[in-house]
Amino acid sequence: MKNRGKLLEQLTGVDSSKLNYYVELKKRNQDVLKQNSRLEILQQLTRDINIDMSIGDIIERAFRKLPEALPCDFLALAKLTEGKLKLIAVAPRDFTDLGYIPKQSILWNAFRDKGATSYNPMLDPLCLAQVTKKHVEPLRSLAAAPLFERSSVTGLLLLGSTIDAAYARAELNFAQHLADQLAISMQNARLYKQVSRAKKEWEATFRAVTDPIFLIDTDYNVLLHNGQLPPGMSNAFNQAISNKCFAKLRGGTEPCQNCPIQEIKETGKPVFQQWNTPEGEFLELSYYPVFNEEKQLAAVTIIMKDVTKKLKMEAQLVQSAKMVALGVMAAGVAHELNSPMTVIIGTAQMLARDLQGEEDSEHVEALSDIINCGLRCKRIIQNLLTFSRQDQAPFSPVDLNAEAERVLDMIQYQINRSQIAIFEHFDRDLPKISANGPQIQQVLTNFLINARDALTEVDGKEKVIEVATSLRLDGKQRWAVLSVSDNGIGIAPENVSKIFTPFYTSKEASKGTGLGLSVSLGIAESHHGNIEVESTLGQGSRFSLVLPVDESNDE
Ligand SMILES: Nc1ncnc2c1ncn2[C@@H]1O[C@H](COP(=O)(O)OP(=O)(O)OP(=O)(O)O)[C@@H](O)[C@H]1O
Ligand SMILES: [Mg+2]
Repeated sequence: MKNRGKLLEQLTGVDSSKLNYYVELKKRNQDVLKQNSRLEILQQLTRDINIDMSIGDIIERAFRKLPEALPCDFLALAKLTEGKLKLIAVAPRDFTDLGYIPKQSILWNAFRDKGATSYNPMLDPLCLAQVTKKHVEPLRSLAAAPLFERSSVTGLLLLGSTIDAAYARAELNFAQHLADQLAISMQNARLYKQVSRAKKEWEATFRAVTDPIFLIDTDYNVLLHNGQLPPGMSNAFNQAISNKCFAKLRGGTEPCQNCPIQEIKETGKPVFQQWNTPEGEFLELSYYPVFNEEKQLAAVTIIMKDVTKKLKMEAQLVQSAKMVALGVMAAGVAHELNSPMTVIIGTAQMLARDLQGEEDSEHVEALSDIINCGLRCKRIIQNLLTFSRQDQAPFSPVDLNAEAERVLDMIQYQINRSQIAIFEHFDRDLPKISANGPQIQQVLTNFLINARDALTEVDGKEKVIEVATSLRLDGKQRWAVLSVSDNGIGIAPENVSKIFTPFYTSKEASKGTGLGLSVSLGIAESHHGNIEVESTLGQGSRFSLVLPVDESNDE
């Protein structure tokens, strides 16, 4: 029996008697249970802390929970900034002012010790017990646990109690655990803020770009879109049932032929394309591959740039360069022809004078033909000279009828040669308009050449072009209208919207560049006017240049 008692004593290391042993065991058991419940509280606390909570809220929440684990009448968090320790959150909130902790305070010891320490605040004249304002009962115990970020201390967690010697080793351990958890939560919150700020900045940048941008995965699903769309595309995009790019962007049911995404899958390189939409817009499409960390293709970014305006301007430049070259040549030829024509007409007129009164009517008639044709040639030469100077011509009062006649003088012959009859219906009372005469001639010339081309393909009926001027009243505004009608091949309804787009032509390369109408529209718009088209496929077309009558120019 004696031996057994001895053995027990040796095995347990507990003092002799059984009673003592059980008392000790019970105490240890209670300690373990207490420890467990503290750990549980710690766990609950960390679970409760949301990533987007403020530090004040975190401290508030911890303060409410902590009394379940250890004595706690005060909780605070101090942060080290620029060598100073500043209280940034306290609970209860009205316990003390947020402010700097003096350098001489014993709280700084926790920094130097790099571990949780307990103090008697009553012994520290600079410490929190003394700054208490509303809470009459002073703190008698204080525990300070350093907050670590990697291995350096960045702040302090302070726990206070009105009980004497409230924080023994176990409580200090707990305080340090809590401080470690809070440090992680704060770090997470800071990272979260940084990430969400970066996300917001990136989203704002993404949405600020006015060109449409899409992120498409390799399975053709639209992942992201910056909310911008080309004008003609928004309905189809928003109403598409499927989220696939071919459905949203092109209204298709399967991937488009020659899909650039397919090409990127094969080559991994960006692809650039131009797309002429059914609405007549020109879009420059850039497809960029997006790779994941394994360097595999994860998605494709598409950027759309509307270049319709740019192309129109380029077309206008090309056309004006062409016109300048043509003008220079025309001016040269006209100038060369001017002198011989003057001689021809002069000589014919002299001969006609010599033959005056003679019976030789055949010669007289022939001479009068020479003189008339010669004068006509001179008019054409004059027009060519005017035409070549069009860039310098400012806006001036222009008589549309006279401009039309000038153009007809120049090209009537060419048109008649194609067995086309030209009829003129001029409103002789048409007021003058303020315009650039040569540009008006350019528009009319293009209308007439287009009409001629539309008639060359027609067989078996009388080919007719009608050139007309008229006045239109629209409320108080008066408009001068110059129109060219033909009974040629006409235009299919689906093509009417395209004919003003630069480079759109149905003619073979040697015959048309597709610039005529886009430039004509540019001219009409620069005169604050417009071009109207009426056309029926197989029956003919009418193109009307509609220009405002500036009342101050009325004569
Ligand atoms: N009177 C018309 N009848 C039928 N189609 C027309 C008529 N006028 C224009 N078009 C159509 O519109 C297209 C564009 O005309 P536009 O004048 O811009 O270019 P183009 O005549 O083809 O070339 P360019 O004028 O630059 O030499 C023509 O190719 C033609 O298909
Ligand atoms: Mg043309």
